[in-house]
Amino acid sequence: MELTDEILVQKTTKSRLPEVDFNKLGFGTYVSDHMLICNYSKGQWEAPRIIPFGDITISPTTLALHYGQSVFEGLKAFKLDDGRINLFRVQKHHERMNRSLARMCMPDIPEEIFVDGLRRLVEVDKDWIPTQPGSSLYIRPIMFASEAKFGVKISDDYTFIIFSGPVGPAFSQALKVKVETEYVRAPKGGTGSAKCAGNYGGAFYPTQKAKEAGYDQVLWTDARENKYIEESGMMNAMFVIDGVLVTPPTSDSILAGVTRDSLLTLAADLGIPYETRPVSLVELENAFRHNTITEAFGAGTAAIVAPIATIHLNGIDHHLPAYGDNAVCYQLKNKMEAIRKGQDDDKHAWNFLF
Ligand SMILES: Cc1ncc(COP(=O)(O)O)c(C=O)c1O
Repeated sequence: MELTDEILVQKTTKSRLPEVDFNKLGFGTYVSDHMLICNYSKGQWEAPRIIPFGDITISPTTLALHYGQSVFEGLKAFKLDDGRINLFRVQKHHERMNRSLARMCMPDIPEEIFVDGLRRLVEVDKDWIPTQPGSSLYIRPIMFASEAKFGVKISDDYTFIIFSGPVGPAFSQALKVKVETEYVRAPKGGTGSAKCAGNYGGAFYPTQKAKEAGYDQVLWTDARENKYIEESGMMNAMFVIDGVLVTPPTSDSILAGVTRDSLLTLAADLGIPYETRPVSLVELENAFRHNTITEAFGAGTAAIVAPIATIHLNGIDHHLPAYGDNAVCYQLKNKMEAIRKGQDDDKHAWNFLF
């Protein structure tokens, strides 16, 4: 990968680092000192700059606010024991960002800005990378339509920003999820496979209703028949049924999770049998009836795996057995953590170290 050192950096004169309690990080509590910002106008990207994190001014006519051209990513950086920094699967996130942008009629973000920009930004804020077990620097690249114009149109101008913040482990206990058959997240041909803002805004209402009923998340079903599991709020869905790791295939209504891809690759490495195929609600009910389902978990950057304790399906709470240390989800998680921290062989070249 070609790297440039040409990004202009304006450092903060007053770091907020002393305010951080690294033993109580939570998720989304703290934002690091700097951000990268880069504008696109007249068909060209301008030079990116790294500046102190702060507010930006936009016009009320900014197109993203009205018509939703807004795309983001979420990835993580880690500090290795030898002090090097690892940006995990940065190229895969860059590729997905460009696929999401294409779906939303937005221009590609070049590698020199996304990857080199990330590297420089994380270097500048390297003291913000936490080292406590389970913690990391979460990085949020976001791009939105910034043309200020009154009228429905594809924007001619865009703003790309990257900021980051130290985060702790995402979930402290196994989740209760509700299989959603009334509301849908994404239809065939829709924007479900893009990481665009509207997918999340549209998911809030059903998720809020599920929370009011005592569940942490929804498990979405397909928009046509509500018969097949799609994915969860910010995670892909995985099950262990009859000793086989099973996950729905990605499609235009499911986000192609980087963690999902990593875990399936590691399952192959570890000799864990797996299948990517549709998982119907009938299959899940039968698996609960015959006690052949032993695990259900979400797979995503925030937690790697989020074990599920209860699945609400057709009016019934089905409970999963307790997860032992040798559960498939923990075998996969431990392997992935060891690779990310540079403690295991990175044979798939997932680490970007500097
Ligand atoms: C809707 C959705 N599905 C799945 C995922 C998991 O993707 P990843 O593993 O790349 O974080 C995410 C998180 O980015 C998500 O927002």
